[in-house]
Amino acid sequence: MSERTLVLVKPDGVSRGLVGEVISRIERKGLTLAALELRSVERAVAEQHYAEHDGKPFFESLLEFITSGKVAAIVAEGENAIAAFRQLAGGTHPVEKATPGTIRGDFGLEVQYNLVHGSDSPESAEREIKIWFPAL
Ligand code: PPS
Repeated sequence: MSERTLVLVKPDGVSRGLVGEVISRIERKGLTLAALELRSVERAVAEQHYAEHDGKPFFESLLEFITSGKVAAIVAEGENAIAAFRQLAGGTHPVEKATPGTIRGDFGLEVQYNLVHGSDSPESAEREIKIWFPAL
């Protein structure tokens, strides 16, 4: 079943010049790009996007990080797009969870600087795409 997922290349990925690498992996997997924008993130948008993590110990540093530089917001589309991108991304912690061959496993060291975000369910994808691309 064709799905859409919201992908963010976070400020660490953008500043390290990894946007092309992430897009290339998305496309090589067989997903297509439905939307793509390089943009700064206002705090209100970050709060909305990460609302489910409000109250967790890392919430404030996560907001500071995601608003610290530009992000590439992407909507990727295709069969099982949500699971497919999470497979490409690898586990949340780039060393403890992600394996080599994944984006986080190949390029990350620390949990905060884990390069990419991908929606974790159809409900999250729908909610997140509305936040980042309200016209889509
Ligand atoms: S949880 O508690 O299991 O729901 O958290 P998790 O799904 O693993 O992570 C949610 C998002 O928070 C980021 N994260 C962190 N950021 C900074 N510091 C710490 N310690 C930390 N732990 C988790 C994690 O990268 C997730 O961000 P996204 O953008 O959704 O991948």
